[in-house]
Amino acid sequence: MTFSPYTDSVHFFGSTNPQALAQAFGTPVYVYNEKILRKNCRTLRALSSLPGFGVNYSVKANANPRLLRILHDEGLVVDAMSPGELHLDLLAGFATEEILYISNNNSVTEMANALAHGLLISVDSLSQLEQCGRLNPGGRVMVRFNPGIGAGHSEKVITAGKATKFGIIPEKLDDVLAILKKYHMTLAGINQHIGSLFMQPDGYLSAVSVLLDLADRLPADIRKQLTVIDFGGGFGIPYHKHAGEAPLDMAALGHALHEKLSQWATQHKYQGRFLVEPGRYVMAEACVLVGQVTAIKDNGEKHFTGTDLGFNVLMRPVLYDSYHEIELYPADDRPRPMLTQTVTGNICESGDILAKERDLPTMYEGDLIAVLDAGAYGYSMASTYNQRQRPCEVLIMEDGSARLIRRRESLDDLTRTVEGLF
Ligand code: LLP
Repeated sequence: MTFSPYTDSVHFFGSTNPQALAQAFGTPVYVYNEKILRKNCRTLRALSSLPGFGVNYSVKANANPRLLRILHDEGLVVDAMSPGELHLDLLAGFATEEILYISNNNSVTEMANALAHGLLISVDSLSQLEQCGRLNPGGRVMVRFNPGIGAGHSEKVITAGKATKFGIIPEKLDDVLAILKKYHMTLAGINQHIGSLFMQPDGYLSAVSVLLDLADRLPADIRKQLTVIDFGGGFGIPYHKHAGEAPLDMAALGHALHEKLSQWATQHKYQGRFLVEPGRYVMAEACVLVGQVTAIKDNGEKHFTGTDLGFNVLMRPVLYDSYHEIELYPADDRPRPMLTQTVTGNICESGDILAKERDLPTMYEGDLIAVLDAGAYGYSMASTYNQRQRPCEVLIMEDGSARLIRRRESLDDLTRTVEGLF
């Protein structure tokens, strides 16, 4: 009897296994698979064969520089939206021309820092465009528009449409042009991002057309200055794997995208870059989070399975009610009939729930579990709440062996920033 159909089917753990990993590195541990990571990069790069087409990985999904290096090796470029992300991009080996600063509500200091690194900055309000003009008159800038079409798995991650803070509405194009003129700036790029996680290509493709139409509306001399048009990310992955949820049809999406881009490039003799900006698609499926069952409780109404996977480790279920499949690696050969159970973490809040009323095989203390699709917005959103140290990260290399790529935090790490104690 196997309770790990997905990780078994893709040989996720290479030549090792969850028990050996737990023994060597402890739990919780984020486990990445290099082969899957590289495969995801190649699928994305294959969306279009246009020479100017590229994949701009959105670092917010996962910023481990060891993983970023693999993406660099696969020919991806990266974004940065903060001085911290920029720091890690550079550390991973990306050159400044391989980094786009896709920011929101920068302070003057942050914007000046990005400019000092020579980066092309995407601004997403008239006020930030003015700020950029004041800091860098005569320079290049990129403007993020709000195409009005949003998408996403939760209201919290839809980033287009008037209910959201992002981008400049196309109706304000004349104001954009006036500010560019005032500061003698070159509009080197335009971009958008409609939101995070779509499983049907239509909305994304419509938004691509909206941005290209907007580029059509630019005065010809300004359009000719464009060197990059970035359509944003949002490419979804099937989180309901055990139920057989279909993946996003990348072949169909690629075909339609390639057609649109080729046509537009030919029509305008455009020689610049076209980018997509995925985060989740690159990372999510390349990682599982391994934890341990620590306690079992039946309170007469509910069956609780307690684990060491608190929401400080993986926040998505609590923050967005997100669904992640759970697989089981039993510690012994007791029978494991299916049981409706609520899987919880070890944080002092009742909301610390990883899976609600889920039908899973019976679990016992000492069992290991893997939470699937944990590579995007997993570690990057982890915290030390309840003063629990953040977990370690391990990479299953292409040869199947495991390598530590981030150590577990220590108790000393908890006081590293405290002043005046010692
Ligand atoms: N570009 C921009 C400007 C973004 O804001 C984002 C994500 C992306 C690209 C990448 O989107 P993706 O391809 O990963 O969907 N924490 C949430 C997701 C937040 C997404 C924020 N922006 C989650 O765990 O689902």
